[in-house]
Amino acid sequence: MAIIIDGKKIARDIRKEVKSKAVDLKTSSGIVPGLTVILVGNNPASEIYVQGKISDCEEVDFFSRTERLPGDTDESKIAEIIQTLNYDDSIHGILVQLPLPNHINPNKMIEMIDPRKDVDGLHPYNVGRLFTGCPYHRSCTPAGCIELLDRTGIEITGKEVVIVGRSNLVGKPLAMMLLSRNATVTLCHTKTKNLPEVTRRADILIAAAGKAELINGAMVKEGAVVIDVGMNRLADRKLVGDVVYAEVAEKASYITPVPGGVGPMTRAMLLVNTLNAAMGIPEFMT
Ligand code: GUN
Repeated sequence: MAIIIDGKKIARDIRKEVKSKAVDLKTSSGIVPGLTVILVGNNPASEIYVQGKISDCEEVDFFSRTERLPGDTDESKIAEIIQTLNYDDSIHGILVQLPLPNHINPNKMIEMIDPRKDVDGLHPYNVGRLFTGCPYHRSCTPAGCIELLDRTGIEITGKEVVIVGRSNLVGKPLAMMLLSRNATVTLCHTKTKNLPEVTRRADILIAAAGKAELINGAMVKEGAVVIDVGMNRLADRKLVGDVVYAEVAEKASYITPVPGGVGPMTRAMLLVNTLNAAMGIPEFMT
C-alpha cells in the first residue's frame, strides 16, 4: 500500500518559510511582497482558486488585490490594467486567472505582463528561460510537483518519468524541469498509442491530462511513484483526480491524494515566485 504524499502539510511548511523570509525582507528593506490577481467573469472554480490565493497571501503577510472584471470585458481593457500594474512598484506579481472568456486570447494577455512580475511563469520569456536551462519564474503547478518529490526524498536523477498531459500549464514545463534534473522523460497524452504500455515504464508517473480517472491500476508499475495533478468534478459533484486512487494506491510506493496533493503546492509556489519577485531582479535580467 502506497505512502500518501501530504501536499497540504508540505505546502504549510513552505508558507512558513515564505512568511519568515517576507518578515526579514520587510525588516531589512521595508518591502512587502504584493500580488494582484486579475479575474475576468465568474467561473465558480476560478472564484474558489482566487480566494485561496488571496487567503494564502494574508497568511504570509503579503499585500494582495483582486481586479474583478465582468465577463464581457474586452482585451484592450485588460491590457490597460496589466500595463498599469507593470509600472506599479507596490505590485511584484501579476496573475491572470485562467481560463479566460472565449473572446479573450490568453497568450496575448500573458505576453502583456512584465516577465519579472509573471509569477505564474507562463510568459514566453520565462518559458524560454526554462527551456534554455536558466529559469526565473517557474510555472507553479510543475514546480510544485518537483517540490513534492524533493521534500519526500524521492530521487529524480536517472529515473524513467512518464508525464500524461501536454498542456502549457503543466505537462510541457514539467518535462523541461525534470529533464534538467536528469530524469529520462516521456511526454505522452490521451492520443498516445498503447498508453498503458508507456505508463507502465514509469518509475515516476505524473497524471496531468485533465481526464477523470484515466490512469487505472493496470497502467502502473509495482512500486511506482504516482503524482496526480488532475482535479475533475464528476456529475455527482465528487472531486476526483486523473488517477483511480484506490486501485493505484495498491501498487504505487508513493501517491498524492486529490484533494490535498498537488493543489496546495500550486498555491505555495505562487507565494515563492511572488517573494522572489519582491526580493529583486536576478542579474541576468537587468
Ligand atoms: N487556472 C488553473 N490553474 C491555474 C494556474 O496555475 N494559473 C492561472 N493563472 N490560472 C489557473
